[in-house]
Order: sequence, then C-alpha cells, then structure tokens
Amino acid sequence: MPAPKDVIWPRDPHTAAKHALLRRYLQAWAPIMLSHNEVITYAEGFAGPGVYVGDEPGSPVIAHQVLAGALRRSPRRVKMVLVEESARRKAELERRIAAATNTSHSPMDRLDVRIAQGRCHPDLLQQLALAGSLRHPMFVLLDGFGGPEVPFRLLEQVAARHRSSEVMVTFQPAFLMRFAGKDEHHRAAGDTFFGGDDWHGVFQQPSSMKAAYLRDRYRESLRRAGFQHTLVFEMVDESNHLLYLIFGTRHERGVEKMKEAMWVVDTTSGVRYRDPKDPNQQALDLVLEPDTAPLRRILLKHLRDVSAARSVDQLKKYALLETVYRPTQVIPLLKKMRDDRDIDVSPGRIIGTSIVAAVRQGALF
Ligand SMILES: C[S@@+](CC[C@H](N)C(=O)[O-])C[C@H]1O[C@@H](n2cnc3c(N)ncnc32)[C@H](O)[C@@H]1O
Repeated sequence: MPAPKDVIWPRDPHTAAKHALLRRYLQAWAPIMLSHNEVITYAEGFAGPGVYVGDEPGSPVIAHQVLAGALRRSPRRVKMVLVEESARRKAELERRIAAATNTSHSPMDRLDVRIAQGRCHPDLLQQLALAGSLRHPMFVLLDGFGGPEVPFRLLEQVAARHRSSEVMVTFQPAFLMRFAGKDEHHRAAGDTFFGGDDWHGVFQQPSSMKAAYLRDRYRESLRRAGFQHTLVFEMVDESNHLLYLIFGTRHERGVEKMKEAMWVVDTTSGVRYRDPKDPNQQALDLVLEPDTAPLRRILLKHLRDVSAARSVDQLKKYALLETVYRPTQVIPLLKKMRDDRDIDVSPGRIIGTSIVAAVRQGALF
C-alpha cells in the first residue's frame, strides 16, 4: 500500500495481524519486565494517529491498554514515549491516548505518556533521554511504512543502553530491491539502514532470492547492533507486497514469548500472515493444525549431525533458538516420533531429562 495522505486510513488485515502479535507479546512482556524492574518503557518512533478509519485502535493505544492493565497487578512504573512526524497525526494520537486514559481503571499516575512531534531519528532517542528511559529496559517499535527508514545507529544505541531492551522493526524489501541498484541516494539510505554495505550482494542474487537475502542481512545487522536473537514474521498484503516484522532481543525468554505470539497469529507455521483474497480463507486458517513435519525432519537431522544423544531439554532449546518452532511443540512431537520408531527415548516417559537418540537412517524425507 502506498503511504496514506490522510490523517487516518483503513486498517488492512495484515495490520490487524501485526496488532494481534503486538498485543499478545506485550501481555507477556509487561508482567515479566515489571516483576524485575522498577521502570520499563514502551516506545515508538513512527507512532501514527492511534486509530484507523473503522475506529480500530492503533499500536500506541493497544500498548496503552495492555500496559495500563499490567499496572493493576504491579506497584511499579511504566513510561510510554511516542514520536510521530505529522502534526495532525500527533494531535489525533493525543486525543486517542487521552480517551484511553479516561476510560482506564488503572493507576494512571504510574503510567507516564510522552508524545512528541518529530522524526524517529534523532528525536526518539532525545525523547527517551528526556523521559529518563535510557537506563531502564525498553521495548521499541519502529513501525514506519517499511522503507529503509531506521538508521542502524539507532538500533545500536537502544541495544547499548540496557541489556533487556528489545526492538521490532518493519521492513519492506521491495524498495531497495527495485531502486537501490541504480540510484546512489537510495543505496546510501540502504547503507545507513543496514549499518554497512554487506547487503549490496542483493544485486547479484536471482530475483526470487532477493527479499530473503535482504531479510537475512538485516537479521545480521540486528545481531551486530547487539540483539543476539532475532525472529522474523512475514506479512503479505492484498497486492502481494511483502513486509517483514523483525524482532531483536538478547533474552531467550523474549524469543519464547514472541514465538508464542507469532503462533497465535499463524497457527500452522508461526511465521507469516497473508491478507485474504478469499473472505473464507481466514476461517479456514483457524482450523488448520500446526505443521510440525519440518520440525520432525530438523530434529532428526540434528540428532544425526551431532552423532550423539540429546536430552529433551537440549532439543527444546535447539527448537527455540534455531528453528521457528516453540519448545512446547517438542514433547508431543517426540512422542509421535517414538511411536513411529524414528527415535529411542530413555527412560520410557518423555520429560526434560530424558535422553533421545535417532534410530533409523533414511527417514529424513
Ligand atoms: C505505519 S504508520 C504507524 C502505524 C502505527 N505503528 C500503528 O500500527 O498503529 C507510520 C507513521 O509514521 C509516520 N512517519 C513517517 N516518517 C516518519 C519519520 N521519519 N519519523 C517519525 N514518524 C514518521 C507517518 O506519519 C505514520 O503516521
């Protein structure tokens, strides 16, 4: 979708999916972070107007609802720092946050919201500094219209200030795939976004590989910035435009909770949402079972590659950090694999300390 001109615009189905993901993640994030920290911050660099044409809440309002709810069960403090470039959208956002504050039954003196008109960079960092947020954990959503708008330096700064800070960035690879090969300015924008020129390899990739190539380079950029774990959620709009949501954290717990949110949105593969062209498609998606066949192949291959037995806990950790699957999917799958005689498990009952070994060769595919 081209960037809308009006103050508010219709919400696409994939935006609704993104919001469901965000809500779910923050519902897990807020209580965990509040149990370990006096102050936590939710920040956005491209906050938007806080509402869509059908009166659906925007991401800052969703975050406000979740964080206000979390404060009912915690004596600690939450800050929100929201930056939006457009004066009219910022004014709408202020109205929406005021309305959310008025209807909330939570202790609003402990939820401090700062809304600023400005550019994501450098204004977001300045506002975070003014709010006193940089020395506390932050969740920073950088949800622009998807072009290469977020400088790598901003990611580095967020990562450097607190070990528990996390980011989620929206990235639409099409712009760089299409224009950066010919235009020096667009190439420079790409360098600022990736924090270097490694991504130029995209120009040698076949068309079908370019988007995934840029996605993987961006995951590397996030790691270089300090976010050792990354996850990607893929969204495709009605016109087939591809958009990535890329999440970075240093914490395995963050990976686990974000994966749980991703699997709620995509119940079959946990990694993507496609705007339905057929109105019945969404209903169909809901009844599909999770597809764990790839995880079965991955675990068997892993057991054979390491040529050694592994504990169930080791396999759960492997699934968490090296695959798109969740640790909770491992034990039910191991039970099926044992029934199919793909693996041996000792002792008989499958628990975290049970030892698993591959038994059959040639069952990989
Ligand atoms: C995709 S929308 C944000 C939507 C919002 N996150 C949500 O889900 O409800 C992007 C917003 O960023 C604003 N914007 C564009 N460029 C910006 C910049 N450089 N700095 C700050 N805001 C910007 C636009 O005006 C628009 O409101």
